[in-house]
Amino acid sequence: MSSDPIISVDRVTLQFGQFTALTDISLHIVAGERVALVGSSGAGKSTLIRLLNGTLEPTRGEVQAFGQKLHQLKPKHHRQIQRQIGTIYQQLHLVDNLRVIHNVNAGHLGHWSFLKALISLIVPLDVATATQALAQVGIPEKLYDRTDRLSGGQQQRVAIARVLVQNPMVILADEPISSLDRELSREVMEILCNCQSSRTLIVSLHDVDVALRYCDRMIGLRRGRILFDAPSTAVSSEMIADLYRL
Ligand SMILES: Nc1ncnc2c1ncn2[C@@H]1O[C@H](COP(=O)(O)OP(=O)(O)OP(=O)(O)O)[C@@H](O)[C@H]1O
Ligand SMILES: [Mg+2]
Repeated sequence: MSSDPIISVDRVTLQFGQFTALTDISLHIVAGERVALVGSSGAGKSTLIRLLNGTLEPTRGEVQAFGQKLHQLKPKHHRQIQRQIGTIYQQLHLVDNLRVIHNVNAGHLGHWSFLKALISLIVPLDVATATQALAQVGIPEKLYDRTDRLSGGQQQRVAIARVLVQNPMVILADEPISSLDRELSREVMEILCNCQSSRTLIVSLHDVDVALRYCDRMIGLRRGRILFDAPSTAVSSEMIADLYRL
């Protein structure tokens, strides 16, 4: 594991109007780390994830990915970096009225030309890769189904398959198992964790036990601040109780 950070956040504060969602956040993540973000609803986990992929800008402070300041990049370089950061959003961001294959193939969009993407909407391209990704998440038979006819858990798996097709160096996953049962949650976490060892995973989770089992580092967010940032093995039940205290 290289010790150069792949993602660095330095003294970031992020406001939505008058409301401060993140306060004075600093963290450094190196390639290959598996980091869990934990904390109560509203603590700022999704906001932090959107900051890390550059879709939100800090009000103060700086975010770097691959050694580049995200918000000073020209659009072309920004797109190059975003190709290497795949996000599974909490709201999934699937196009409901398209077939599953098109949503999975959206994982290629950073690499495909506009023309290729357009052709693929008519005659789906790279069906084998999409099928394989869907097989990994257990729903290969849904390839040609309309996405809005799938159950919530199946749609969540389509969003995961899309990021597997993208094959980025960093995966940001916002509650990727929230609609899945225990067995599927285990399988999906194993897929996310067992990708090649150099891949970095930053995953927000409601279930602390899952975070402990699959991630080597845990960041506890409380009311927009980092309460702790520690190896999972060092996280005590007192720290967790403090994190979720009302
Ligand atoms: N676009 C926005 N405009 C205004 N406030 C926002 C916006 N997005 C998030 N917030 C606020 O920022 C805070 C953090 O929200 P965020 O979605 O990051 O929490 P979370 O930890 O992901 O919660 P959950 O576990 O419920 O998903 C919340 O109080 C939320 O209302
Ligand atoms: Mg959230």
